[in-house]
Amino acid sequence: MPKCRICEGPVQEFFDFGRQPVSDVFPAPSEIGTEHFYRLAVAFCENCTMVQQLEEVSRDRMFPADYPYRSSGSALMRQHFEGVAEHYLATELSGPDAFYVEIGCNDGIMLNSIRAAGVRHLGVDPAEEAAKVAGAGGSRVYVGFFEEPTARKIHAAEGPAQLIFSANTISHIAYIDSVFAGAGALLDEGGVFVFEDRYLGDIVEHTYFDQIYDEHFYLFSVRSVQALAQRFGFELIDVEHLPVHGGTMRYTTARTGERTPTEAVGQWLERERAQRLWEWATYESFANRVQENCEGLKEMLTRLRDEGKRVVGYGATCKSATVLNYCGIGPESISFISDSTVEKQSRVTPGSHIPIRPSEAFREPYPDYALLFAWNHAEEIMAKEKEFKEAGGRWILYVPKVHII
Ligand code: SAM
Ligand code: TMP
Ligand code: ZN
Repeated sequence: MPKCRICEGPVQEFFDFGRQPVSDVFPAPSEIGTEHFYRLAVAFCENCTMVQQLEEVSRDRMFPADYPYRSSGSALMRQHFEGVAEHYLATELSGPDAFYVEIGCNDGIMLNSIRAAGVRHLGVDPAEEAAKVAGAGGSRVYVGFFEEPTARKIHAAEGPAQLIFSANTISHIAYIDSVFAGAGALLDEGGVFVFEDRYLGDIVEHTYFDQIYDEHFYLFSVRSVQALAQRFGFELIDVEHLPVHGGTMRYTTARTGERTPTEAVGQWLERERAQRLWEWATYESFANRVQENCEGLKEMLTRLRDEGKRVVGYGATCKSATVLNYCGIGPESISFISDSTVEKQSRVTPGSHIPIRPSEAFREPYPDYALLFAWNHAEEIMAKEKEFKEAGGRWILYVPKVHII
């Protein structure tokens, strides 16, 4: 049996999505066929409960200089991070000469608010082009991967950080031991290391199976993060559930013994126990539901094609890579996917080769059906595209079940 990346306990596979491409590398039409594939399989550790992938895509393939994801593409996420920045400016970063470090700052969606408040800061991100956008906003960014040696260098040059923050990045890092060792080297004695990531409890509860793709190497829960932190001399002192990205948990950790854990930690552990999130049977039934959703989606798309309906996709997300490649859906069913990210336009989806077009293409003219891959931004997108429904168009969603609205 394979071993857990965290505790070396036995891990048991519960779903195999088969051969999948790197989800955020969109080939130009001339590059079709050059994609790197790997086996996307997820497993549960019976010892520490960490859900994790069995095969790792190298970090240089996943996060190249031209990594196309831009955090600021969503108004809701801009608002979210402004709120997060405001909170920490009033708390952890309110002391004299506070120092803020952000792992995976991308285009500066959060970092720029910290900079604007005049607080000493450093973003760390290997995605050079995204980092340049943050730099253009006036923020300081170290272009590279955060790991122990990077953290030691930062500490030597800048001193300790009162807050190390990271959103939607820590769960992407298979070599997480080095990240915690780095946080241990860089964090001020009483400082906090805070990270937000997709929450396993939501993924299981709502069958959000497309949250499983290369970048989401770990799917965190309160219990598994508590065990993880403990291994590296940290303690989970607070958790907060957030509605963004279809269900996110913010984990606040501190050096062991430095702070008293809040009641929320115990309450969420109790909730996870009641949800049976630490039991193998939960993952067996999750796997059955994923299978049903995928069958249902394939059937629906075949029927619509037979009826001569025009279906397009909305949002060329990483999530869509899992759905499209696992279900074998391509341009014969979905003529194109509209996406607001300039870096993705004129390219095709990895593995499934569906053309990506700018948002305007969605309206020229409206399709009969739009398959919403960016369902985590549903409210924002449906408000923006309300004329689509008024014109008789319908949205297709495939989570928590396949349905039309
Ligand atoms: N924090 C942003 C947000 O929440 O929207 C960006 C999230 S994006 C999915 C993940 C980012 O983490 C990418 O910009 C990627 O380049 C960066 N990244 C991946 N591994 C990293 C590492 N070891 N150190 C720092 N950044 C990393
Ligand atoms: P995400 O689910 O990983 O945040 O990716 C969302 C994708 O959807 C990203 O490529 C941008 C795209 N998008 C649009 O095309 N229009 C929109 O209004 C929003 C919010 C996102
Ligand atoms: Zn384990």
